[in-house]
Amino acid sequence: MRTVTVGVLGSGTVGQDVLTLIQRRRDIFSDIGVNIEISGVLVRDLGKARNVPAGTPLTDTCDFLQQSEVVIECMGGIDRPLGLLRPYLKSGRPLITANKALLAERWDELREYALNGKLYYEASVMAGTPVIGPMSTVLRASTFKGLLATLNGTCNFILTQMEQGKDYAQALSEAQALGYAEDPPTLDVGGFDTAHKLTVLARFSADGNYAYENVQVTGIEHVTLEDVQAARARGEHIKLVGELHQEGGQWQATVAPRSLPHDHPLCNAGAGRNALVYEGEESGSLIFAGGGAGGMVTASAMVGDLLDYVLGFPGHVPLH
Ligand code: NDP
Ligand code: HSE
Repeated sequence: MRTVTVGVLGSGTVGQDVLTLIQRRRDIFSDIGVNIEISGVLVRDLGKARNVPAGTPLTDTCDFLQQSEVVIECMGGIDRPLGLLRPYLKSGRPLITANKALLAERWDELREYALNGKLYYEASVMAGTPVIGPMSTVLRASTFKGLLATLNGTCNFILTQMEQGKDYAQALSEAQALGYAEDPPTLDVGGFDTAHKLTVLARFSADGNYAYENVQVTGIEHVTLEDVQAARARGEHIKLVGELHQEGGQWQATVAPRSLPHDHPLCNAGAGRNALVYEGEESGSLIFAGGGAGGMVTASAMVGDLLDYVLGFPGHVPLH
């Protein structure tokens, strides 16, 4: 049996479920001859109650990174995780992350590791709904024409609740209580989280070096209850939509609220769920839909990435 030591940064909404799911899948790892040993789990507050397997080695220091064969980052932020991970990444070891802000905004440092197959980040876009996997593999044979997507679970939740008459502030605080929102939630409602995810997707489909700064972003903060309900009266739904399309030979990425007809694929994913319509010349039109926020749905993609790593598959390699 081969022992794989796994270090985990963060044990909040996502990290706790990653640890639980690794424990739940011990038999699958064992069937492929692997024993997963958690080398350490970084948190800020050691006194906080947590829903993690008994014996989880929680710590507020990062010494365990030295003894980790793989690291799973679920702490969020940009500078803090990158500062901790820089020496680790330089040593050539793999990183599994759901941190789209880090990927979108620090590509200058991270791209080299991604090109070398060292970054696994299926969970960074649409959480457990696999879209990076197909876009980084089989869809490469098709000519990419564009995509349209709802990529933020918090905004989906808020807009759906507003359709039922709830006010914006109350819906936002419910999304936070469910663990969907970023810290701070401006990242969600301001459209920036969708822009981070769109940037990650653009690097698999349009331009391997697509810059986050190129995305034009408008959030949902100014969408009123009246706007949402007027759209419903017209048989439409307001969604925060990310779009990637070509204009004058250039790839344009935009994020903005749009009113879409009830039978549009982005409206048919089910309440609060994310959806993505992918247009490829040869593949035709494809629709991906599913849960895009929440602990276990995100953990399912991260533990899937861990399985890929132990089986010897490379991480997600962008266009190059
Ligand atoms: P949480 O805020 O719930 O958890 C963050 C964890 O990181 C906490 O355990 C916290 O410790 C720890 N942490 C944060 N800062 C520090 C620090 N400076 N030093 C030590 N520990 C620290 O976040 P989520 O689990 O919701 O999100 C984590 C990542 O996953 C983010 O990048 C997010 O964008 C991404 N993501 C989240 C999804 C979701 O639905 N929540 C879905 C997809 C991706 P403590 O508990 O002690 O405060
Ligand atoms: N805050 C994010 C969302 C988490 O609401 O979609 C998943 O990336």
